[in-house]
Amino acid sequence: MFHPLTVARAEPAAEDAVALTLAVPPPLRAAFRHVPGQHLTFRHGALRRTYSIASPAGAGHVTVGIRHLPGGAFSGGAARELAPGDTVHVLPPRGRFTLPPRPGHFAAVAGGSGITPVLSMAATLLAAEPSARFTLLRSDRSAASAMFLDEVADLKDRHPGRFQSLHALTREERGAGLAPGRLDEHRLRALLPALLRCADVAGWYLCGPPGLIDAARGALRALGVPRERVRTELFHAGATPPAPGGAPRPGGAAGTLTATLDGRRASWPVAADETLLTAVLRNRPDAPWACRGGVCGTCRARLTEGRVAMARNFALEESEVAAGYVLACQSRPLTERVELDFDA
Ligand code: FES
Repeated sequence: MFHPLTVARAEPAAEDAVALTLAVPPPLRAAFRHVPGQHLTFRHGALRRTYSIASPAGAGHVTVGIRHLPGGAFSGGAARELAPGDTVHVLPPRGRFTLPPRPGHFAAVAGGSGITPVLSMAATLLAAEPSARFTLLRSDRSAASAMFLDEVADLKDRHPGRFQSLHALTREERGAGLAPGRLDEHRLRALLPALLRCADVAGWYLCGPPGLIDAARGALRALGVPRERVRTELFHAGATPPAPGGAPRPGGAAGTLTATLDGRRASWPVAADETLLTAVLRNRPDAPWACRGGVCGTCRARLTEGRVAMARNFALEESEVAAGYVLACQSRPLTERVELDFDA
């Protein structure tokens, strides 16, 4: 359920981005305790938007990073106006792109605002695990557009020897450091082994636009990194949210949808050309969703009966799909009876 939280601070995180810090009152501290890497869902009128948490876990407040996208319904408008004392409506943290602190060496490749969850991961890990290490390779258009530069520099100062970072700028010359240009697969295959011993990394976290994630995935595969050590989260670079649910598939079946949500199970009709989320929301307006574009994973549920066609999936790992998880916002029924468990 959405909670009203008060804006404590709104500060620039880059030339076109804000770091929005929300005060979490003591009664809500347990609900808003996040695992590094998770995000918050904001409600603004009929809109919902998810933003990753940048602050370390257990801070007593949460800071999200919001890039002001031109034409962005929330990020380009309302988010610019927010000031200390304003109220926003927010769901507790969600998401499975997480790094719970544990010993080991972890690494991230982050592009643009993809630095946001990675910052929370690195800061929490290094503070909580004295033997852990973190290597960050980040990429931005320019230094002015790079979010949380000071916070990353702070980590370097606070944890010398355990935090290593390298910054690639795609459209700007710099006196020192990496030559400008995109981090494509070819470049990553050369850079990553020069930065660290890839075989020693316990977990890789890839977060950013699709091109960077594909390039990093390809490079890690070529470097022999096992797939189960790699976690990804897609950040959309564009202002326009993806179309809800994609196009209907031929062969869809109208029938009955049964869903379990917060321990309550019920059945309702579902049309062949509608998504399961649409059918659920007609009857359970409290069902979880945010992007409706197959990106955020908020609508994840386990399919326990029947078959569905999932139009697009940028959120679930292959292992989750194999275990029967689907995105309700992208799934249409292929069998007359379909059952979902949102609690699984
Ligand atoms: S609501 Fe975001 S993936 Fe379904």
